[in-house]
Amino acid sequence: MDPLLPREIDGYLDDLVSAQLSDPVLVDMERRASELGFPIIGRAAGRFVELTARLAGARRVVELGSGFGYSAYWFARAVGDDGEVVCIDGDEANAERAEAYLRRAGLWDRVDYRVGDAVERFEDVQGGVDLVYCDIDKDGYPAAWEAAAARLPVGGVFVCDNVLWYGRVAGLAPPDQDADVAAAQAGVTRDIVEMTREIANDPAFVSSIAPIRDGLLVAQRIA
Ligand SMILES: C[S@@+](CC[C@H](N)C(=O)[O-])C[C@H]1O[C@@H](n2cnc3c(N)ncnc32)[C@H](O)[C@@H]1O
Repeated sequence: MDPLLPREIDGYLDDLVSAQLSDPVLVDMERRASELGFPIIGRAAGRFVELTARLAGARRVVELGSGFGYSAYWFARAVGDDGEVVCIDGDEANAERAEAYLRRAGLWDRVDYRVGDAVERFEDVQGGVDLVYCDIDKDGYPAAWEAAAARLPVGGVFVCDNVLWYGRVAGLAPPDQDADVAAAQAGVTRDIVEMTREIANDPAFVSSIAPIRDGLLVAQRIA
């Protein structure tokens, strides 16, 4: 899928991060994602979520939809030695791959990876949560937001990927989309818009969307 920004700009943003951070583990994860067509957030968005977590002073992050650990890599950097990233994903194989990659990166001791439905398993997570990151199947977004909003304290942050859905949220259909795909996407797009509007209209949160890659929403509880 084409990114929202011209590829050259996306590449420029990725290169800026690469110039500062070189890690063969990251390169291996990106190669895997590219070979399998697995949707990771990528470097520029990875750096953005790391920065967001650092700015919020997040020490405990819960990830809903962790895949093989790429986004968790960035959050694990942000939370520091004594922080924790609780990863939740429905695919057991992803947990094993995440452990292998994040061990190599020296970050696995900050990670608690759980397998199961993200919103259900989130209920089992005891204790405080500073930041919730959502990247599950998009029809689960409204429920993920509801669960996150109920857990976040004042100052806590919700971060959500793919909120611009390759332009569909604004009525833009990606090129080459056939009628069946367009119909299937309509419901998903409605779920994303429903969640995004709910957040935008919630007086307890201040939110904005950065149009990096496919759109990253950041919302902070202020009341
Ligand atoms: C887009 S990928 C996540 C990529 C990851 N955040 C990254 O950037 O590296 C979505 C992941 O969410 C998982 N997933 C989707 N819906 C889920 C759900 N309802 N509960 C648990 N996991 C889910 C999939 O197994 C997949 O690994």
